[in-house]
Formats: sequence, structure tokens, C-alpha cells
Amino acid sequence: MKKIQLILLLSFFGHVIMSNEVNVYTSRHYDSDDLLYKEFTQETGIKVNIISGKGSALLQRLKSEGSNSPADIFFTVDAGNLWKVQKEGLFQSIQSDLVLSSVPENLRGPNDEWTAIAKRARVIFYNPENVSEEMIKDIDYEDLSNPEWRNKIVVRSSSNMYNQSLVASLISNLGEEQTESWANKLVSNFARKPQGNDRSQIIAVANGEADLAIANSYYIGIMLSGSAGEEQLVAAKKVKMAFPNQKNRGTHINISGAGILKSAPNQKNANRFLEFLISKKVQKTMVDKSYEYPILESIRPSDEIASFGTDFKEDQISVKSFGELNPSAVRLMDRSGWK
Ligand SMILES: [Fe+2]
Repeated sequence: MKKIQLILLLSFFGHVIMSNEVNVYTSRHYDSDDLLYKEFTQETGIKVNIISGKGSALLQRLKSEGSNSPADIFFTVDAGNLWKVQKEGLFQSIQSDLVLSSVPENLRGPNDEWTAIAKRARVIFYNPENVSEEMIKDIDYEDLSNPEWRNKIVVRSSSNMYNQSLVASLISNLGEEQTESWANKLVSNFARKPQGNDRSQIIAVANGEADLAIANSYYIGIMLSGSAGEEQLVAAKKVKMAFPNQKNRGTHINISGAGILKSAPNQKNANRFLEFLISKKVQKTMVDKSYEYPILESIRPSDEIASFGTDFKEDQISVKSFGELNPSAVRLMDRSGWK
């Protein structure tokens, strides 16, 4: 064989080997995701390269890498964050029939540029020793502005995307004027200046520092599992989860989700990766570990999460609106004094 032919042959195989991979930029912070990536490689022979970091840092990186970016998939939490990537024009439409037929339309981005992988509810936590069943049973987000809850509510700061998306959903459902008046009164019901993360709100309620906490559903699963330590386990056992707006539109739902980058060098593998994430087996493994809700109706959430009930009503509003209305939500929260 001539030298030149050998070089061509080697570079051809080199390319095939190199391209049998998928590059995933992720801001999700779950060890369980790493196990899934290993399983994907075992099943498909496709190597998963993970770049993890904060959502905003990864977005900056994507922008600076431009069309030379090695990223195939961007995987993050909250529709508001996926919206930011999409707004930069970095995603392509997902073509997989399997993904599009498995994930409900209200859980996908515009032009199918991103898709939910799992769901989370933003719920109300309470300590039954301090809050009666009667007070909590038909609670709506709207009720959190009532004077009966004065100095009794804890929630993290308005710079947090989970809160921004909740407020965006209220703007979409109630209009801006009504949401603003709600936010003004909610702020005067705060038991303390917003501080800490979702889990610290739950702990405050468990300790009786406040009566109600607004936080994401999966945190109680993590806390109950004991993996986060004794203090969180003890606190978690003291609280219950209430699903707001059950008599009307349903509880606010947000997502973990992913999209394929326009410049993805391994498009086929990226599609396969998304299909893997929404397969029955992986959905079950994922929700058992992340304590989120599955996308597929046939899958049961983890035992810890299922113990709070599985047949609650979900707000069916499109998660796209959380991105669209994010700037309005941020300005509104700022005006209301929600720090
Ligand atoms: Fe979270």
C-alpha cells in the first residue's frame, strides 16, 4: 500500500472512531445522570463526553465557540434557561418522531427546538403541626397573598429562575395587573428576607420559622432519601407537600430539558441520546434518582415522591410562555420588592 493511501485510510477510520461520540453540555447536578451516560455507552457504543457547569457559563461558552463548538446537546433545568439558548438561535428543531410523539406539545420549545426530559412541580410545603388540613387543602398560589399568611411564607430570591418561571406562569394565567398586585401582597407575607435555596425554605417550615414554603417537589425526595444528611432527613419527615390550584388550572409544572445544537457535529448520536433519555427504562431510573416526575404516563415516580400522591392536576400551560414572559416576570418581581 502506498504511503498516501495508508494515511487516507487511517484518517478515515480515525474519523469514524472519533465521531462515535456525543458531547453533552449540562448544568444538571445529579450523580445519577453520570450512571445513565455510562449505560448509554454500553448500549450504543457511543461515548458520552460531559462538559458540566452553570447554565449561564455554558451558554457563554456556546456563544464564544460559535459554529466551531463541539457541543451536540445542551441539557439543563427550567424552561426559562432553555429559552435563553433558543433565543440566541443555537438550537435546531428536534426531528426524532419518537421524541415528538412521546413528549406532550406543551412541554416542548417553539419549533421543537427543545424538549422536556423530566417534570417538576413548584409546590407548597407545610408543617401539619402548624397548619391545619382545612387551611391548606384547597390552596391556590393566588391565596398566598391573603392576610392570613402575614409573616408566614418563605421563598428564595427573585433572581432564581424557578421563581421567575412561576411568576411568568401567573402572568400568563391571570394577566400582569393581577399578578403584580398578588406579588406585592405576597412580599408583605414573607417571614424573612428571601435567602438560601429551596431546601432551606423547607427546613425553615420544618423548624416552625415559617408556615409555608414555596419550593420544587423533587427536593423533598432528595431530603427523604437521607443522601443529603441527617438534618435534611429529619426536616423532611416533618413536612407535607400541597399541590396548589387543584380545583382550577392545576399546579405549576416546569421541566428538565434538552436540545440539539445547530452546529452539532454528531447529530445522529444526539438524536439517539435524546431518545434514550425518554425511553421507559431510563425514565424510571432517572426519576428514582432525581425525584422528578417522569414524562411518560406509564412510569411511576419514586416511592418517596409517590407517597405525596401521583394523580394531582398539572397546569397545562405551555412551558414556552415561561421564557416569553421572563423579562416581564423579572421586572414585576423587582417592582414588588421581592429581593
Ligand atoms: Fe433544583
